[in-house]
Amino acid sequence: ESRNTETGQPMTCETEKIYKQPFVIGVAGGAASGKTTVCDMIIQQLHDQRVVLVNQDSFYHNLTEEELTRVHEYNFDHPDAFDTEKLLCDMEKLRHGQAVDIPNYDFKSYKNDVFPARRVNPSDVIILEGILVFHDPRVRDLMNMKIFVDTDADVRLARRIRRDTVEKGRDIGAVLDQYSKFVKPAFDDFILPTKKYADIIIPRGGDNHVAVDLIVQHIRTKLGQHDLCKIYPNLYVIQSTFQI
Ligand code: ADP
Ligand code: C5P
Repeated sequence: ESRNTETGQPMTCETEKIYKQPFVIGVAGGAASGKTTVCDMIIQQLHDQRVVLVNQDSFYHNLTEEELTRVHEYNFDHPDAFDTEKLLCDMEKLRHGQAVDIPNYDFKSYKNDVFPARRVNPSDVIILEGILVFHDPRVRDLMNMKIFVDTDADVRLARRIRRDTVEKGRDIGAVLDQYSKFVKPAFDDFILPTKKYADIIIPRGGDNHVAVDLIVQHIRTKLGQHDLCKIYPNLYVIQSTFQI
């Protein structure tokens, strides 16, 4: 049983969440919808707080030699493409104040061990970003706030073509084939159905400054309550008043 370190009184799960655990934000949405851009805007505005960004991309499975020879048949947009057990394990560690080494995924070699892993330290705010971060209920349950970035499919496709050809050096024909064979069907089957779990849906992604401002305001309010609980531990008795 956990006890409040100062009062010695037992803490409820809800109290513990507010008392010592970081504020976890999930950011989902289609590929190239602007998830990373929105996360960067939130992080920029929260420059005075300890914030870390964890990408679901870091948890892509490494491809086997056989899969590598037929990479154009591999579905990177299916939930099974990710090592969700490792993601859960690393997120749990971060939530409980342990640092973790998170792989840097290489989109060119399709491997997560080409680059050195990134050491991620525990923080006040953890942002978990990725196309399917709302898919697994155990991952959703880690989140205090869920954001879905909602950008039209044509805009996502246009951005993807530019990004994959210019930045990833891929052939435009292969990008379009992958889009119609895997990306679009997976968006309809797995990503869009998770929109219903969102607390906030942001239309137009990073262009929506009002939405980002409101989100940052909310996070600051929650972090302020967290600080209050640290200063006045007895506040946990009335903490339920703070829930929204
Ligand atoms: P995601 O993380 O959802 O894949 P990103 O934020 O990385 O999306 O954006 C995908 C691509 O679109 C990037 O190349 C980015 O520079 C571009 N992009 C994102 N938001 C905008 C925007 N509002 N206007 C123009 N380009 C954008
Ligand atoms: O950053 P973003 O959310 O756009 O990343 C997810 C996308 O990356 C997926 O749509 C997937 O098709 C693509 N991907 C890829 N090649 C890989 C791994 C992922 O094109 N090796």
